[in-house]
Amino acid sequence: MPLKADTICRDMLVMEVIIRKNGEECGLVAARIVAKCLQEKEKPVLGLATGSTPLQLYGELIELYRTGTISFKECTTFNLDEYVGLDHSHPKSYHRYMADNFFGRVDMCAENINIPDGTAEDLRQTCQEYETKIEQCGGIDLQILGIGSNGHIGFNEPMGSLSSRTWIKILSKNTIKDNGRFFKDAREVPRHVITMGIGTIMEARHCLIMACGWKKSEAVKAMIEGSVTAQWPASALQFHRRTTAVLDEEAASLLSHREHYAWVEENMMPWQTY
Ligand code: PGA
Repeated sequence: MPLKADTICRDMLVMEVIIRKNGEECGLVAARIVAKCLQEKEKPVLGLATGSTPLQLYGELIELYRTGTISFKECTTFNLDEYVGLDHSHPKSYHRYMADNFFGRVDMCAENINIPDGTAEDLRQTCQEYETKIEQCGGIDLQILGIGSNGHIGFNEPMGSLSSRTWIKILSKNTIKDNGRFFKDAREVPRHVITMGIGTIMEARHCLIMACGWKKSEAVKAMIEGSVTAQWPASALQFHRRTTAVLDEEAASLLSHREHYAWVEENMMPWQTY
């Protein structure tokens, strides 16, 4: 769909790369981006991620809520993904992760929280309903993303379609191994998940992708400076109208154009900064 003029004026039409010393500083910048969205929108719609990367961000947001700077009362959220077959109270389910690390600690209204239901009897229907609900809420204003060491976003694994919608996916062996660290054993990691598709993510008005640590450096390089390819699903974000990548030094270590990214950040208009 062609972008309307007002969108072009408001959005940056580039991938913005912000590099900070460590995860803590990345969390601070990311929290400012989320806070700005909450303050600008009357009824903000956030897309949320799980995993270890956004924990610093959630910590900062909880702090901003506690000090009265932001509120989540008017906010609607859609999580990216969930394991199939894990009960919502399962300690490794993303329902539980979100309750423990975020929702239970801010003023979110329970009825505004949306997480794919990996326990639904009809998984295909639940995926379609998820897409419809996002649309009914007017789309996602700000989508928070992590990146897998294999370049996945959400649970969109390499070699999948770059225009996929919310659907049931099979985890790659690489991700099962990576996520084994959250379970007693990698064999306990479910093989099936529900995830928003790349096409769903691409419709968010702003994507905020975070990456920390050496383990992400190859995927980050491919996402920002490589060719757009299904081998590195995050590279699809090069076509996104407004993506901000917030990286720590280690995750950014393989980038060739760091000086340029720093130059762009230094010369932003005041309204473009976070
Ligand atoms: P992580 O996962 O934040 O736990 O590294 C990110 C992802 O796999 O998307």
